[in-house]
Amino acid sequence: MTHAVCPGSFDPPTLGHLDVIGRAAGLFDRVTVAVLVNPDKQGLFTIDERLELLRATTGRWPTVDLDAFQGLLVDYCRAAGISAIVKGIRAVSDFDYELQMAQMNHSLTGVDTLFLPTNPTYSFVSSSLVKQVAMFGGDVAPLLPDIFSSALQAKITTG
Ligand code: PNS
Repeated sequence: MTHAVCPGSFDPPTLGHLDVIGRAAGLFDRVTVAVLVNPDKQGLFTIDERLELLRATTGRWPTVDLDAFQGLLVDYCRAAGISAIVKGIRAVSDFDYELQMAQMNHSLTGVDTLFLPTNPTYSFVSSSLVKQVAMFGGDVAPLLPDIFSSALQAKITTG
């Protein structure tokens, strides 16, 4: 059985993330979306909230499951029996760092990384830009599933 991971911060997930997750689900028997728990960086959404948002939008893919991880991604992959990492590439600017991480990860345990070119509709979308625009009152609703934009609005107004 082929088992891949879509790792990330997902703070919050965007339609770009979901596009990559759905396409990965078409390529692998099983896909785990793994949310990084980073004790050094407090996000806008808690890990549980991110998992909840992902749960609400990935149910359409029965072979996709969710998890959170701490530490090295390669250790998580080894423990879970995952042989491939799937990453979306939005632009050439993503590629330099992603290539470096892919090569480092491969050198550590032999795990491979597959890059999926992001759907051009979402090539300018990132979680950090979405948060920044929303915080200053911009409309990011077209870039997020409906339940995410209402959750983001609630976060910004009530914390
Ligand atoms: O959504 P992000 O923040 O771009 O995701 C980055 C992520 C979580 C995939 C990356 O930071 C990661 O793999 N972190 C885990 C720690 C690790 O393995 N670091 C070494 C990478 S070579």
